[in-house]
Amino acid sequence: MAKSGSPRIAMTAPDHYEVTYTINPWMQPDTWARDPKSANQTARAQWLALKSTLERIGFTVDVIPGVAGLPDMLFPANAAIIFERRAMLARFRYPQRTGEEAHFRRYLLDLHERGLLDEIAELSPGLNQEGAGDCIWDTKREVFWAGFGPRSDAWALSEVTNFFQRGVVALLLATEHYYHLDTCFKALPGGEILYFPGAFAERSAKLIVDMVASELLIAVTAEEAASFCLNIVELGRDLVMAPPPSRIRTILEERGYRCHEVDLSSFILSGGAAYCMTLRLDLLSSPHVDIAKEGETSCSPRISPTPL
Ligand code: ARG
Repeated sequence: MAKSGSPRIAMTAPDHYEVTYTINPWMQPDTWARDPKSANQTARAQWLALKSTLERIGFTVDVIPGVAGLPDMLFPANAAIIFERRAMLARFRYPQRTGEEAHFRRYLLDLHERGLLDEIAELSPGLNQEGAGDCIWDTKREVFWAGFGPRSDAWALSEVTNFFQRGVVALLLATEHYYHLDTCFKALPGGEILYFPGAFAERSAKLIVDMVASELLIAVTAEEAASFCLNIVELGRDLVMAPPPSRIRTILEERGYRCHEVDLSSFILSGGAAYCMTLRLDLLSSPHVDIAKEGETSCSPRISPTPL
């Protein structure tokens, strides 16, 4: 089970992307409807710019086909949680997105066939969890930070804990605008946590403060968070993101990160940016330790409820 090769990340082809409904307060179907043709052209150009930026910093980008009538498939961060070659398929809160599940399931099975995944699990019936968008791996602390409330259920998090056998820090999201954790929280490889305190219920905001050393905790303002500058794809010191406010850029650069800015306004129009538009396929608990159990036969995919 070789772990070599370049870091791998998925994006969904933008062909069927549009903004036609509202399931979060950023979504502007009216703006899109004014000139759908040019809106689509701009979105494609921005998508290509994101893809080529990710490739430039070293990712291999796997492209998932888009599906007509499922415009938010463009945001595969919500497809699944993938960690150590094991995946837990998401279950969506809103009917507008539930049709995506079958397509993402097929994609995960395809990854298994290609030897990129060992196991696939599904949540118990009735539970919602919207993938890596609400479950962010912290390489420094070796835990998942997980959002719940608007889209994901608190109950789903015990299944995440059991399946991945890792600690999960549950954070209650308290606003409509910051409906997924990845819109208001980022764990960087150097241990820094960027977050917008106003997005969290009081006790969850306090939990973050208690868990993170003060020199690593960076709070952003409401105005800064609204630029989607916490919705970051990272690869070592390289950060790919929508253009951040200058204060945030300076903070990141002072800490040794390189910011690669991509105009993602077409996607912010749907409430998403760089991280939402991707799904990391090769996350490991420690990039330096080979967790492969050599000689073991590979498992067959297990699409069944995870026992509680
Ligand atoms: N329009 C999409 C929704 O409301 C945007 C999803 C953005 N994804 C994310 N991981 N934040 O579901």
